[in-house]
Amino acid sequence: MQEGEGLARAEIAAAEGVAWHALLARRRGGAPASLAAAPPAELGAAAMVALYGPLVDIPPGRPFAIAHLAQSLDGRIATSNGASRWLSGEEDLLHTHRMRALADAVLVGARTVLCDDPQLTVRRCAGDHPVRVVIDAELRLPPRLRLFRDGAAPTLVIAASDRARSGERHGEAEILALPRAGGVIDPAAIRRALAARGLNRLFVEGGGITISHFLAARALDRLQLTIAPVLLGSGRPGVALPEIAEPGHGMRPRMRRATLGEDVLFECIFDG
Ligand SMILES: NC(=O)c1ccc[n+]([C@@H]2O[C@H](COP(=O)([O-])OP(=O)(O)OC[C@H]3O[C@@H](n4cnc5c(N)ncnc54)[C@H](OP(=O)(O)O)[C@@H]3O)[C@@H](O)[C@H]2O)c1
Repeated sequence: MQEGEGLARAEIAAAEGVAWHALLARRRGGAPASLAAAPPAELGAAAMVALYGPLVDIPPGRPFAIAHLAQSLDGRIATSNGASRWLSGEEDLLHTHRMRALADAVLVGARTVLCDDPQLTVRRCAGDHPVRVVIDAELRLPPRLRLFRDGAAPTLVIAASDRARSGERHGEAEILALPRAGGVIDPAAIRRALAARGLNRLFVEGGGITISHFLAARALDRLQLTIAPVLLGSGRPGVALPEIAEPGHGMRPRMRRATLGEDVLFECIFDG
């Protein structure tokens, strides 16, 4: 790397840091003028403001759910044996941590916790850890997993009310019991139960089954799909919905897009 190139990268990183702190301040209810402190477009910070600005401007009391998946060109989110690290690149990983930092709660399905043993904390950028939520209706996940014992952030396990009672513990996590409806726990009921605890901004981080349940129930305001330039040819699917007869019956949300290094993020906007 040339000396000048290194300097330019350091300048870009510093500019992005300033922009990110301005966005966080605005997310926490800071003065609307705070984004004016963001550096000029040529330093890359304007793209961050464009990507996250609409999300930080959602009124604090308004329930809002946004999901994200990284997938291959052929629509796979992991190999068949559940390996998904690292399908997308560094920029998308950083993006995921930023999305956590903007959320009140981050939610994943049981199979993601079993495959990845994730921490679901904010480590790649500044920001507070969200409350961690895992859907495990049958309470099958072993309490030795990190979420249930690391104490890094409050953790909720959504279980079926015929399996457990709200307030009971699973490891260090608190159980939130909800009724099953048609074999699954209704994503809309999950959103309501979390909002009742002040967890209005929900980031659904995967996997494909969990996000598909939310999408089928029309319980998402936005869906972000980061497409990585790789063909896996097999593996676990991303979004899967009930069959339709013709393409015209598909969902046609408004779209935004952003470039994240070699990946492209498509954001589907369902909220009006
Ligand atoms: N590329 C990415 O962006 C990304 C992100 C996250 C995860 N991943 C990968 O994706 C894989 C896991 O994804 P997945 O699609 O197989 O599974 P998943 O969505 O992580 O978990 C699905 C399971 O969660 C429970 N669940 C979810 N929603 C529910 C609901 N509404 N009601 C009741 N139970 C519900 C069910 O557990 P039970 O069947 O046990 O009841 C369901 O089988 C892993 O390999 C992980 O590494 C990739």
